[in-house]
Amino acid sequence: MADNVECDPGQAFNVTAAIDDLDFEEELKIGHLVRSVSVVPRVITFGGRGVHLQNLLDAIEEHGDYIGVNAPASGVYNNDYHFIHMGYGVDPEVQIPTILGKSGLPVFLLGKVADVVTNNYGTSIPMVDTASVLQRTLEIVKEQETAFICTNVQETDLCGHRENVAAYADRLRVADEWIGKIRDALGEDDILIVQADHGNDPTIGHPHHTREMVPLMIHSAHSTPKNIGIRKTLSDVGATAADYFHSKAPENAAEVKQRSGEPMKIIRAKDYKDMSRKAANIISAQIILKPDCVLGLATGGTPVGAYAQLVEWYNKGDLDFSGVTTVNLDEYRGLPKEHPESYWSFMHRNLFDHVNIDPAHINLPDGTNPDADDACAQYNQIIHSVGGIDLQLLGLGPNGHIGFNEPGKAFELETHCVDLTEATIEANKRFFDGNEDLVPRQAYTMGIKTIMQARKVLVVANGLAKAKAVKAVVSGPVTPECPGSILQLHPDCTLVADEEALSLL
Ligand code: F6R
Repeated sequence: MADNVECDPGQAFNVTAAIDDLDFEEELKIGHLVRSVSVVPRVITFGGRGVHLQNLLDAIEEHGDYIGVNAPASGVYNNDYHFIHMGYGVDPEVQIPTILGKSGLPVFLLGKVADVVTNNYGTSIPMVDTASVLQRTLEIVKEQETAFICTNVQETDLCGHRENVAAYADRLRVADEWIGKIRDALGEDDILIVQADHGNDPTIGHPHHTREMVPLMIHSAHSTPKNIGIRKTLSDVGATAADYFHSKAPENAAEVKQRSGEPMKIIRAKDYKDMSRKAANIISAQIILKPDCVLGLATGGTPVGAYAQLVEWYNKGDLDFSGVTTVNLDEYRGLPKEHPESYWSFMHRNLFDHVNIDPAHINLPDGTNPDADDACAQYNQIIHSVGGIDLQLLGLGPNGHIGFNEPGKAFELETHCVDLTEATIEANKRFFDGNEDLVPRQAYTMGIKTIMQARKVLVVANGLAKAKAVKAVVSGPVTPECPGSILQLHPDCTLVADEEALSLL
């Protein structure tokens, strides 16, 4: 088990085996174990026949900080190649096979894609040999009246890794022949999308992926030759397929990238005052860099010092809020805006009343709207219409909650109505004369999905009471049991915390 040194060192781990000596099923158990303890976007478990441990050891290479087995050099691709790709935090619900499968359409995945992509509502046929996989595709095209069929020829990819030009050309010849037969079997309304795999030009002089640009062809009985331009991402190609079936588009690449996992930046502060100044510095940098930015704001005790600092800098003439738009994380359901403990009042008291923000640019969920579905839909619409959030400020609940996203809830929600947990009611009663009966029982909150779509996230935490949550968020497993742990997968997340909050790390 080591880095994938040929393509994505540090981003993908390879689990490589000589499957004459270790059964692939056994190797898979190791692969799952590696997947469960690592946060790289991909773990690839694979093996081949005709090679032995010594071949793998002989192919070990060190590339700077990374070490791995050079898979083409080890010979593992040459004979009866087996593999499974294990993604991280991949959500099948936003992928085309699940979207179409759920809508009742027969979905077939053939070849590598059958191993890589979840297909709970359809049929997956993993195969490697090019002619076999395309022959099976042709049979399904003929059998099915209406279906989504996705076939992935991977031998070209393997020939590219091996830099074997003759074998690559041979596989292309086979593919060409079968694609012709498949095209001839298409019905009037069928559409064929042909896309090269991710590069791997065998003549380029290295075995790495060359995935910047790959050819894409769309064919139907009604199409006339024309340039279809450039699809920026594979999910754009998926969107083309979704469009054809008039179905929901898959999650886009930018959204996927947000889950690809870069380490959280941790900024150590001496104490609460220091934490507040550092956080305010980051927020003010955002406003200076982009005066018309969208700030996602939080209430609670933690950010009060940062807001006070921003007000001070505004009074000195260092900050201008006139172009800023704000969207707050959450609001209690059922409290009038003017109630001193509504988040609307909180925000005005601590920030908005003291700076030159345009009141029309201030947004919070409408806690006075008793229709939860309507209130949440409207708030989602506001967030989308302002173009998403540039910087989202978050406090952390003692149980790891962010916004009012309490433990155990799904990661994929946008704004929704929540029942507050006993722990949160207990923690918040200090704002209601210490009387927990006065604490509202429900709130509207931005969901984790919305928070994860923010371009930057800034988490603030102070005090011993937050130490356990900080530890779980920064270094615990990514799990809905600790909602803030998902931030490990955000590409630009900074935690500013004081010594006490960081004391368990
Ligand atoms: C605030 C919010 C909450 C708080 C969290 C920490 O809008 O949604 O998630 O950030 O409960 O609260 P404090 O800062 O009071 O410890």
